[in-house]
Amino acid sequence: MTSPLPVLSPSARGFRPLPLSQRSPARRPIVPLLGRPPRAHLWHIGCQMNEADHEMLAERFAEIGFVPDVALDDADLAVLVTCTVRQNAEQKVYGKFRELTEWKRARPGRAIAMTGCMAVEHGSALLRRLPDLDYLFDVRDSDGFFARLQAIHAADLDGPVSMPASDRLLAYVSVMGGCNEMCTYCIVPFVRGREASRPVAEVVEEVQRLVDRGVREVTLLGQNVNSYRDPRSGAGLPELLAAVDGVPGLWRLRFLTSHPRNAVPELFAAMRDLPTVCEQLHLPVQAGDDRLLRRMRRLYTVEEYLEKIAAARATVPGLALTTDIIVGFCAESDEEFGGTVRLLESVRFDTVHLQAYSVRPGTAAARRPDDVPLDEKKRRLNHLLELQRRIALERNRALIGTTVQVLVEGRTEDGRPYGRTRQGKIALLAAHSAVAGQLVTARVGGATAWQLSLEAEAAAA
Ligand code: SAH
Ligand code: SF4
Ligand code: F3S
Repeated sequence: MTSPLPVLSPSARGFRPLPLSQRSPARRPIVPLLGRPPRAHLWHIGCQMNEADHEMLAERFAEIGFVPDVALDDADLAVLVTCTVRQNAEQKVYGKFRELTEWKRARPGRAIAMTGCMAVEHGSALLRRLPDLDYLFDVRDSDGFFARLQAIHAADLDGPVSMPASDRLLAYVSVMGGCNEMCTYCIVPFVRGREASRPVAEVVEEVQRLVDRGVREVTLLGQNVNSYRDPRSGAGLPELLAAVDGVPGLWRLRFLTSHPRNAVPELFAAMRDLPTVCEQLHLPVQAGDDRLLRRMRRLYTVEEYLEKIAAARATVPGLALTTDIIVGFCAESDEEFGGTVRLLESVRFDTVHLQAYSVRPGTAAARRPDDVPLDEKKRRLNHLLELQRRIALERNRALIGTTVQVLVEGRTEDGRPYGRTRQGKIALLAAHSAVAGQLVTARVGGATAWQLSLEAEAAAA
């Protein structure tokens, strides 16, 4: 047995997310009379949380009488749901913003709004930096923004707009916001705040609503989803999974992202026992060396991580494991990097998301020198990419001849239906053998590092 891992350190207890709502934007956009309901275009980048927020905002736009989620050319208002987890995410947002500046100038009366994690991180500095930005709001507290839109567009609004019929099969459902972990490199706790979970009943209700509209696969979201706690009953993630598993008509259930220190045997048992819960666990390890993990403040050792993986694999047959790795963190030595290489070689993950360390202002790690040169970060990244490509290919090839289940999501340009297996692997079916929405079981005939190719005689369920 591993010893219990420590909780939040005293130094981490004092942090507060920046109160964006108190910094009132002073800008007054020009609002022409349109003579029709205004139309909004929504764009997002970053993690699945932002995808969920994008959907939530679309619904709120419809509620106040905007036509939600139109193409950019048709839109009066563009909304950017942003990410700040790494510098390159911010650069992409600024790139998108430049594109929108042109779009805005092409027709007077168009406006640009920004929300998401960059809005919290930079606050009104963004309004100063970006003269064409009209609105800035906190996605966790959007009432003021929508009330303002409602007030200034009152003449054009004509009651709630019904959401366009959707053929969506997959949906994300946020079950908790925020993160209390304070990993030293990470900005997420500062922009998403402290953990706050939604009650089980509310989550079940939302999943039921989605299933009634045709959704078949749901992914429950939280930055640290396995520390989920129902605020009333105290139920944890295994109980939440059991409750959602009971929603009639739901076929598949997944959850993201788990922190290794909160991955407990009860969770693995729930994954094994609940029919809808898929055999896929995303368990970010970040690094394969104890000193490095300590500098990152991950609160587990390599050995403890390996024990968790062994327990998960022993409990859940056919489990696919995925992870995140950061290379080139402050003072990462060749030897420490070697630990990460050995970890990848020994665990043999199905997928690894690799990132080079990017300094985030205000985090604990930002006080340390970012001293691994960029060229060296790239070299380490490429080394792991190549290693993981080989491992993924071997793992996927080992599935040849086995039978997998695919939820068909769409069709490639050459007519091949595609979808994901329960393990989360992308699978291509024989041309015209199934349509979106079908659950198909078929034999794996071929494999690359990134996808499976299934044989023709598929059985649709
Ligand atoms: N809560 C999740 C995901 C957080 S962000 C977790 O704990 O794993 C997603 C991934 O981005 C992280 O897992 C980490 O690998 C990466 N990441 C976060 N901050 C980063 C930084 N400053 N530089 C590079 N990668 C970072
Ligand atoms: Fe960031 Fe994830 Fe660590 Fe939370 S657990 S601080 S979101 S890396
Ligand atoms: Fe990015 Fe915010 Fe997600 S910083 S990764 S969008 S929580």
